[in-house]
Amino acid sequence: MSLGAEGVTKRFGDLVAVGALDLEARPGAVLAVLGPNGAGKTTTLDMLSGTTRPDSGVVTWEGRAARPGELRRLVGVCPQTVQTWPRLTCVEQVVFLARLYGLGRAAATDRADRLLDRVGLRPKRDAQARTLSGGMLRRLNIALALVSDPPAVVLDEPEAGLDPQSRVLIRDLIGELATGKVVIVTSHDLAEVERVADRILILDHGVGIADGTPRELLEKFDLGRTVDFGTDPDKTDALLAAVRGAGAAATATGDLVTARLADGNGLSALLVAAENSGVPVRAVHTREPSLEDVFLHLTGRGLRE
Ligand SMILES: Nc1ncnc2c1ncn2[C@@H]1O[C@H](COP(=O)(O)OP(=O)(O)OP(=O)(O)O)[C@@H](O)[C@H]1O
Ligand SMILES: [Mg+2]
Repeated sequence: MSLGAEGVTKRFGDLVAVGALDLEARPGAVLAVLGPNGAGKTTTLDMLSGTTRPDSGVVTWEGRAARPGELRRLVGVCPQTVQTWPRLTCVEQVVFLARLYGLGRAAATDRADRLLDRVGLRPKRDAQARTLSGGMLRRLNIALALVSDPPAVVLDEPEAGLDPQSRVLIRDLIGELATGKVVIVTSHDLAEVERVADRILILDHGVGIADGTPRELLEKFDLGRTVDFGTDPDKTDALLAAVRGAGAAATATGDLVTARLADGNGLSALLVAAENSGVPVRAVHTREPSLEDVFLHLTGRGLRE
């Protein structure tokens, strides 16, 4: 089994939302599509699931071009914006959808109960969707995506807005699903992605800019050891200038100035520069670069849209 894209492009007027994107996903390895707001993640999933037709390029199943109608049968979708029927109970929604897929009443009820169990919603089985919390609704949506037991599932930010307990539950579920299905998720939570994804595709402005396992990405964009300086939020500019003056690549966010050490040396020069700047340094922390550092290195710190 494999779900892929070959040179898919989607335009909205003059905007190229996704440009000539290639990807391939197979069971056994969760693929995470990562990118800033507006990068084209949802548009990509829409094309992979047959919701939107690409302007050019093809979506493939088993390496062959697949039509949107076929994709809609093959790919279960958990959309970014929760879609449920507010006045139906959890079990009613899942049963309703299962019946649409042709299951008899008993089989549909059985499947609904198993799915609600899997997403931790058994206690809310008979509660109307309008009475659920945001996190519960998202978990209900994941159950709905699995109703037809499709060979592929795409989940658009499945962990957005979930508490740590629900995240663990969903992360385990995603891992389980991936043993037998093609699973693609989107996210911009780097810490979460490091835990859930086996492969990562980084998108920016609709273009794939990096692809690999988390380890491969860290090695490919070898950023060197990283030093975080904590200071007062209004002093970061002065500290940033001092650290850059000592020859380090550096950026500032909030009350942190993050600098990169080339080849592991230069820490003492940085500390001296920070000391000499007269800016109060509240904390110094050296660490290996994270996936978030790689992501920000590739996509920049500017806000999108
Ligand atoms: N139906 C549409 N009509 C016009 N422009 C659209 C439409 N859908 C998406 N876009 C634009 O296409 C680009 C990609 O949007 P998309 O929703 O795929 O991004 P995303 O990576 O999912 O972002 P987010 O992280 O905010 O969910 C954005 O610039 C968006 O404004
Ligand atoms: Mg999106």
